[in-house]
Amino acid sequence: MSTHTNGSPPGFRATWAEVDLDRIASNFAALRALAGREAVVFPVVKANAYGHGALPVARRLTTEGAVGLCVATPEEGLELRRGGIPIPILCLGAVEPLQITAAARSQITLTLYSPHQVRLFEEAGRASGVPVRFHLKIETGMNRLGVLPEELGPLLDELRGCRSSLLSGVYSNLASADRPGEASNAEQGARLTEAAAAVRAAGHDPRPMHLANSAGLLYHPALRFDAVRPGLLLYGIRPGSGDSGPGFAPALTLKTTVLRVKSVPAGAPVGYSAAWRAPRESRLATLAIGYDDGIPRAAGGKAEVLVGGRRAPLVGNVSMDLCVCDITDCGDVAPGAEAVIIGSQGQETIGAAELAERAGTIPWEILCGIGRRVPRVHVAGGATVSIASALPAVKDVAPVPEKEPPKRRNYNHDATPEAAAPKPADEQPEPHPEPREA
Ligand SMILES: Cc1ncc(COP(=O)(O)O)c(C=O)c1O
Repeated sequence: MSTHTNGSPPGFRATWAEVDLDRIASNFAALRALAGREAVVFPVVKANAYGHGALPVARRLTTEGAVGLCVATPEEGLELRRGGIPIPILCLGAVEPLQITAAARSQITLTLYSPHQVRLFEEAGRASGVPVRFHLKIETGMNRLGVLPEELGPLLDELRGCRSSLLSGVYSNLASADRPGEASNAEQGARLTEAAAAVRAAGHDPRPMHLANSAGLLYHPALRFDAVRPGLLLYGIRPGSGDSGPGFAPALTLKTTVLRVKSVPAGAPVGYSAAWRAPRESRLATLAIGYDDGIPRAAGGKAEVLVGGRRAPLVGNVSMDLCVCDITDCGDVAPGAEAVIIGSQGQETIGAAELAERAGTIPWEILCGIGRRVPRVHVAGGATVSIASALPAVKDVAPVPEKEPPKRRNYNHDATPEAAAPKPADEQPEPHPEPREA
């Protein structure tokens, strides 16, 4: 678990994620060791590198010698290209017809997952003069994207006449890789192998051929083929068990701050709907983090956070921007104290997998759910190297000149005196719906 603490980044609300890039690098090295000589590692940096910050992570992986990266959308690929990432990028998800040319010009390899795309790729390649490179995705058992076995023959026939689109890999995705004993894993491998043979017979080179995600790499050595696409394990979380396992360590710590401390009598309610009442005289700490920031609403009343080096239960419903924990047994805690949602404090550790389990979800969703208003502080060699934020820091801002307030004018009919008069009951607007929580 990352231990670096620098306090919150200046100019931001005191809720932030620390991402230890050295951990990303050591996890990547462990992945390469696991994959061995035969399979190359294409780390998955989609969804903002699972909430860790796509560009800083991709830059570090490039420095560490990564030979390719996977994203989910052309936009994610372009973000990396604009950030100067030079290595191959494979887009695993869908591409819109209007995106094909720009993606190809940006050297983003696309996925062909449906026969109708052959014509679109070929036309885009011919019109732009830039060949559209793609990996062919085979349906082997997920029934999401992917070319069905019966579609493959006609598709390969159609590709025979194509000069402006280039098949440069074949792949599929494991459905149950985290269940090592599950027979469907080997069956998916066999279906992909069969499809790759057909591709080869049609005169294409189906390499690299790839199937395994993190769990595939860990639990199914026979399915590593030419390349593996680990995501979760790159970020230091082992699928299935949730702990890191040898060689891997979580790279992200999610921290926030105690805003208020209150002593309340037994029976005092907390939060929306008064979902929790103090069973005894209690001390409560209000934290500067809510479900928009990545602590799931479902964690209320179930998960714990770390305050003063101890576990403090989350009480009441988590709100959009705030939540409350019970610090009665946490010793002296004052406003401004650091609270850890994911990570370590003192001897205690709460991993993304634990938070996920308490909230009834999976660690992937916890990491991807860390909101846009949480700045990511990237740390390497024990020092902050960058701060990535979708929102601006609120500091050193030039004064905004005061403007004369605009003269009151009637901009619409509703502002006329007639419109302001009470309306008959059947013209009244709908009553406001139930108030929503925030
Ligand atoms: C097609 C594909 N490959 C690989 C991965 C990486 O999976 P994991 O994070 O389990 O390693 C994903 C993640 O969703 C994916 O969609």
